[in-house]
Amino acid sequence: MSASANDPVPGPSDLAYIRFVSVENMMKLVHSIGIETMLRDLARYIEDDFRRWEKFDKTPRVASHSPEGVIELMPTSDGEDYGFKYVNGHPRNTKDGLQTVTAFGLLARVDTGYPELLTEMTVLTALRTAATSAMVASHLAPKGSRVMAMIGNGAQSEFQALAMRAICGIDTLRLYDIDRAATEKVRRNLTGQGFELIPCATPEEAIEGAQIITTCTADKQFATILTDNMVGAGLHINAIGGDCPGKTELHKDILIRSDVFVEYPPQTRIEGEIQQMPEDFPVTEMWQVITGAAPGRINDRQITLFDGVGFAIEDFSALRYLRDKLKDHPFYEDLDIIADPDDPRDLFGMIQRARPR
Ligand SMILES: NC(=O)c1ccc[n+]([C@@H]2O[C@H](COP(=O)([O-])OP(=O)(O)OC[C@H]3O[C@@H](n4cnc5c(N)ncnc54)[C@H](O)[C@@H]3O)[C@@H](O)[C@H]2O)c1
Repeated sequence: MSASANDPVPGPSDLAYIRFVSVENMMKLVHSIGIETMLRDLARYIEDDFRRWEKFDKTPRVASHSPEGVIELMPTSDGEDYGFKYVNGHPRNTKDGLQTVTAFGLLARVDTGYPELLTEMTVLTALRTAATSAMVASHLAPKGSRVMAMIGNGAQSEFQALAMRAICGIDTLRLYDIDRAATEKVRRNLTGQGFELIPCATPEEAIEGAQIITTCTADKQFATILTDNMVGAGLHINAIGGDCPGKTELHKDILIRSDVFVEYPPQTRIEGEIQQMPEDFPVTEMWQVITGAAPGRINDRQITLFDGVGFAIEDFSALRYLRDKLKDHPFYEDLDIIADPDDPRDLFGMIQRARPR
């Protein structure tokens, strides 16, 4: 039957909607589940996906660089679901009251290509990055680690601290940032949460007695946050701030003394600490440690270094986790994002029928 001028303008069908998680709903979800439970759950999802690493499409992320920062797209698929994240990194943003990192992401079905879930990922990225760091540290850090030096006290830092406690048992944080206000912010946010918090005046002071060193600074240039003489035997270094060409945190002599573990070598050789090293510099892929195909920590004098840049599979795991959690925690809205004409080939007719009368 053809439409007449008196018919009401048809509304979207059920097929037009996908689930949308706003920042407000993401924060409700975090409170409803509990942040440490969420970090542990996310670490499990990420570890599970690292276990089936070979199933995934993998490519270094697609990066668009400017003098101010970078905008990146991070896609992957396991053959059933397809996910991608849009993320930026603009270290000078905070001076103008903007964040260094913001993100959103999408999960779609491979069989129809239809999107299913669109979500904020600024908060989710901080959670997944922390969950990844702690999951990796659970395989590589010295057993019984209690003290972490946290160098760079910006947006990521409290998440890193909470994940390292929930998953690895860290209870003492030695904090350093070039900006004391950032350290004071972490101290304020984490007071009363069961940590011993020790603000430090220098990076050297921060790493005293630490079993884990996390570097999480933002700069758009080669920086030397840690030099070789600062790093003693037996430590685990979680270096996550250097994640762009031309942006590193560690002196290369530390890399020579360490066993270096990475997510996806083709991306890390472009973006990670190892961009300072020759193309054939030896690294171990974390998925191989997790599956038992390669050794992780083999003795207590070894320096293990996670050269973490953030890989698409971690975002995919986070999207999968979110989709699963929305079943019991319905913090989402329906978003009318897919044009759905009654006759799939009559997209034009659908627009005509929606003309205001
Ligand atoms: N590996 C990953 O998966 C991943 C994920 C998210 C963010 N990151 C990266 O982590 C870094 C930090 O992100 P953020 O959101 O916390 O940024 P942010 O801008 O909120 O915080 C960065 C902090 O580093 C401090 N800093 C800069 N130079 C320093 C130095 N030389 N010594 C000590 N502190 C210094 C700044 O004062 C600031 O407080 C960024 O480079 C970001 O791109 C990596």
